[in-house]
Amino acid sequence: MSEDVKIIGLKNIPFIKKGDNIAQLIVEGCKKQNISLKDKDIILIAQTIITKSLGRIKHLENIKPSQKAFKIHNKVKPLAEQKKIPVKSPELIQAIIDESKKVLKTEHVIITETKQGFICANAGIDKSNIEGTSNIGLLPKNPDLEAKKIREHLYSLTNKRIGIIITDSFGRPFRNGAVGVALGVSGISPIKDKRGDQDLFGKTLESTIIGQADNLACAAQLIMGEANEGIPVVILRGYNYKFNKKANISSILRNAESDIFREETAQKIDKMLRARRSYKLNFSNQDVKEETIEKCVKLARWAPSAHNSQPWRYTILKKGLIRNNLINSMNEKLRTDLENDGRAEDYIRKKIDKTRTQFLNSPILILLSLDTSDLEKYTDEVRNQNEFILGVQSISASATYFLLALENEGLKACWYCAPLFSRDIVKDILGLPDSFIPMAFFTVGYPEKGEIKAPYRKKLQEIIFDLKKRKA
Ligand SMILES: Cc1cc2nc3c(=O)[nH]c(=O)nc-3n(C[C@H](O)[C@H](O)[C@H](O)COP(=O)(O)O)c2cc1C
Repeated sequence: MSEDVKIIGLKNIPFIKKGDNIAQLIVEGCKKQNISLKDKDIILIAQTIITKSLGRIKHLENIKPSQKAFKIHNKVKPLAEQKKIPVKSPELIQAIIDESKKVLKTEHVIITETKQGFICANAGIDKSNIEGTSNIGLLPKNPDLEAKKIREHLYSLTNKRIGIIITDSFGRPFRNGAVGVALGVSGISPIKDKRGDQDLFGKTLESTIIGQADNLACAAQLIMGEANEGIPVVILRGYNYKFNKKANISSILRNAESDIFREETAQKIDKMLRARRSYKLNFSNQDVKEETIEKCVKLARWAPSAHNSQPWRYTILKKGLIRNNLINSMNEKLRTDLENDGRAEDYIRKKIDKTRTQFLNSPILILLSLDTSDLEKYTDEVRNQNEFILGVQSISASATYFLLALENEGLKACWYCAPLFSRDIVKDILGLPDSFIPMAFFTVGYPEKGEIKAPYRKKLQEIIFDLKKRKA
């Protein structure tokens, strides 16, 4: 390891214009400062001058904001004003959208994933160090490629193997203060893999990977500065690294799956769909607010339904006499049914006790009914039957939305078919309209115990019916 690292600022780089040759200007700047470049020097170049040399400048007046840009502007403006930070114009927001793969957050700041794959504020668009009040500088389209071009050109001019890092500064999610960051590299790997090395006490390092290009970018920023220091190029000498022609920054960008802070909506939904379980254990004493249930019912309205009939009706049953009376009467009916089936007393008691306890102890019990008055009427029985099935399918879709909405609120639930088997009792005790058919109960509450093991799921091949397997 080398002991001394020198950071030398090149002070003679002129204002950059479109088409300027950065490698050439670096060599001339070195000459003026009496610096001769050496093998394994690292040259760190501020992104702004690359942007200018590429002509990646836009004029805000020439940008026509879209509806989306206005919408984001309207959301961000009051939040930015509250935080006393400059409000971004719809034109600037449009430029940010245009430079981004995805807009990730719109609060007082706008965080996006840029087309280059960086996650940063404002798609890295800069107004500072760009001439003119309405001009903005865009990130180079391919910073790795620009670094490579400069490295190769420098080699042709000096015959020296030099590492190139194009730098910028990004704010950080967990701390105030922007720090140097490498946007593109060539000749030097963005990371230094220390795995397998030994620490001070001889222990083998198992997971240490140093972000060396970002560290070097920070070091360069000490003299590059963010304001009017006017040192856009820094030579870093004495840092020990392996020269690597193939290095690029894209290789270290975390993809959405391995970035745990960037849980995509799709991943969240995926997780929730798998995590929802029919909860049949004890509920905790935590009160379930009626407005939370209403919030979930509100979401359940967004389920698809045949002819958009929305034939679902939710009844919230809190603990109390009516509910107890209902549950007991339903259980008597269940007992009669099971006795008629010839079931043994032991079996009957177990079955009844189980569901009765579940229902009685449920902090909230929801009854889902099908309102047949929402179903279309036909002149023949077959179509009426089909319409009834559509009604059942539709309320099932809503019930699924409801269960997922509950899950999202941290509530647990289980779907029970009992009301279907004692429809008249339910209707009678609750005084439901004639057109209602009680279909399901949902026990709802906060969980007391931990995880429930996921029950078996059929394999994909079992549920995708392959037409090739049909009998001839
Ligand atoms: C239409 C329907 C009726 C159900 N009825 C009952 C029931 O009466 N009693 C019960 O314990 N579970 C009932 N369940 C829950 C299922 O047993 C449960 O969804 C299934 O075992 C899969 O478990 P999971 O929901 O945790 O994935 C019902 C589920 C559905 C969709």
